Amino acid sequence: MIPTAIIGAGNMGSALYKGLASQGKTDRIWLCDQHAEKLTIASMDRRINHPADAGKVAECILLAVKPQSFSTLMTTVGNAWAGTLVISIMAGVTMKTVVDATGASAVVRAMPNLGARVGRSITGWHPSPAVTPVQMEHVEELFSSIGMTVRLAEESQMDGFTAVAGSGPAYVFLLAELLENAARELGVDEATSARIARDLLGAGSLLLDGKERSALEWQEAVASKGGTTEAALHVMQEKGLPAIFHDAIAAAAERSRSLSRDDKSH
Ligand SMILES: NC(=O)c1ccc[n+]([C@@H]2O[C@H](COP(=O)([O-])OP(=O)(O)OC[C@H]3O[C@@H](n4cnc5c(N)ncnc54)[C@H](OP(=O)(O)O)[C@@H]3O)[C@@H](O)[C@H]2O)c1
Repeated sequence: MIPTAIIGAGNMGSALYKGLASQGKTDRIWLCDQHAEKLTIASMDRRINHPADAGKVAECILLAVKPQSFSTLMTTVGNAWAGTLVISIMAGVTMKTVVDATGASAVVRAMPNLGARVGRSITGWHPSPAVTPVQMEHVEELFSSIGMTVRLAEESQMDGFTAVAGSGPAYVFLLAELLENAARELGVDEATSARIARDLLGAGSLLLDGKERSALEWQEAVASKGGTTEAALHVMQEKGLPAIFHDAIAAAAERSRSLSRDDKSH
């Protein structure tokens, strides 16, 4: 592991630290946040209060602050990170912005998702040309601690990846909510409705292996001819659910592109 300081111990920074801790990989990991109480997940000697100090111990800085906090953060850091590998998980902040603000040439842009909290993130990442093979291995090792990783060939692919994988957990939560509401409307009691929706999402584990059947084949396996599932899937197709999904995700990708264009975080 390259000595690494995680800047920002909020949702994502703490999930990453805990993921690494669960694999016994925090020997060379430091955690930094302006709220001391968020650092208690790390041992005393692994806590950093001031971001500028991170460059003194770490050769890799992982930026896990909100995009809108980035410019203020950099006013306190100056060029202290110019010689380090800088990994940013800030949504909509381009690699160029991070290079310009930090002075570092070895920069990685990465996009994890909320699954990180349970070791099930899908993290897409893209390196700048200056990132070395050893540094890339380090990036893989860091994000593997919270789930699977995918190296994207182009930074521009980050927008589509963000729309599907970064925002993806919200679509699944929406589906759970809709299922729960539908069960209640059909007379199922409240507790059972909530339980059905949650447990149904376990169907995802059938897909995880990816070898047995595709998502379409699983739909066909459940929907017997003239049966209840077929009736439901027919209405979903007729009323345009695929088109709604297509347009919704295209809107998320466009939002990601426009956030990058308007990137005012520096
Ligand atoms: N949450 C997600 O599902 C998700 C998914 C993918 C990517 N991301 C990206 O991950 C990043 C972090 O998101 P998050 O939800 O983890 O944010 P968060 O919970 O707000 O955590 C950020 C932490 O960094 C602290 N911080 C801000 N400026 C600092 C500074 N100058 N020095 C030290 N600490 C500072 C914040 O303190 P304050 O609260 O005082 O600002 C906060 O404790 C964002 O850029 C986001 O785009 C998030």
